[in-house]
Amino acid sequence: MARDTLFDTAAPADKFEFNERVADVFDDMLDRSVPFYKEVIEMSAEILGGSLQAGDAVYDLGCSTGTTLLYLARMLEAKNLRFIGVDNSKAMLDKALRKARMFSLAERIDFNEQDITRAQFSGAGGVILNYTLQFINPAVRLDFLNTIYNGLRPGGVLILSEKVVSRDKGFKRQFSDSYHQYKKNRGYSELEIANKREALENVLIPLSIRENMDLLSGAGFSRVETFFQWFNFVSFIGRR
Ligand SMILES: C[S@@+](CC[C@H](N)C(=O)[O-])C[C@H]1O[C@@H](n2cnc3c(N)ncnc32)[C@H](O)[C@@H]1O
Repeated sequence: MARDTLFDTAAPADKFEFNERVADVFDDMLDRSVPFYKEVIEMSAEILGGSLQAGDAVYDLGCSTGTTLLYLARMLEAKNLRFIGVDNSKAMLDKALRKARMFSLAERIDFNEQDITRAQFSGAGGVILNYTLQFINPAVRLDFLNTIYNGLRPGGVLILSEKVVSRDKGFKRQFSDSYHQYKKNRGYSELEIANKREALENVLIPLSIRENMDLLSGAGFSRVETFFQWFNFVSFIGRR
């Protein structure tokens, strides 16, 4: 796995983009920047395993390099499911396809290059939206979640993971300090952490837990719960 040193530079940070340079080091970036990334995927597989039905389609919106779908395709092999990954970064999808071929799973997963806010789907058994809603314009998030709700079959499940922000100044600082320490412990320097934070300014726009819950309810999900939290990282489940 190529090591992420993208922000180890004295040059002013450009706006963060999911381009080829990011795609090249993305798996290492997630591994060292998203707390409990692997465990959240494992929990998602467990949740989906308990509710998917044979023939169901499972969508991963903002699938990046396909890590989650590759895991699900292996773990839920017996269920005869259709796996579809959607992302608008060609560099990410090229990498996803290479990984799928490496694990002989390319036949079982479709990767589509598309804007997820324009994707049409119906009758899905599961939709995964991990660490991606935060990059979508807040003004369209409700409509987008409503499209997802309408695309799920009754009993279908949405798994949403997000970086969140506390509206309480003290907790906001405390959680952000813990996250800063988390990244330092995983080998990122102060410079890299500061540069990335600047590059993500106004690109990654986090909401609070409550705001995300309200969005999910407003989009139609009457049954919503959190199933994981590490400081400012939270995973939600919504059931249609
Ligand atoms: C932080 S990554 C998601 C990580 C991935 N879900 C995982 O758990 O490994 C965000 C992804 O969303 C994609 N993305 C952002 N906005 C998008 C949009 N409007 N349509 C499609 N993909 C989008 C980016 O290209 C990127 O690959």
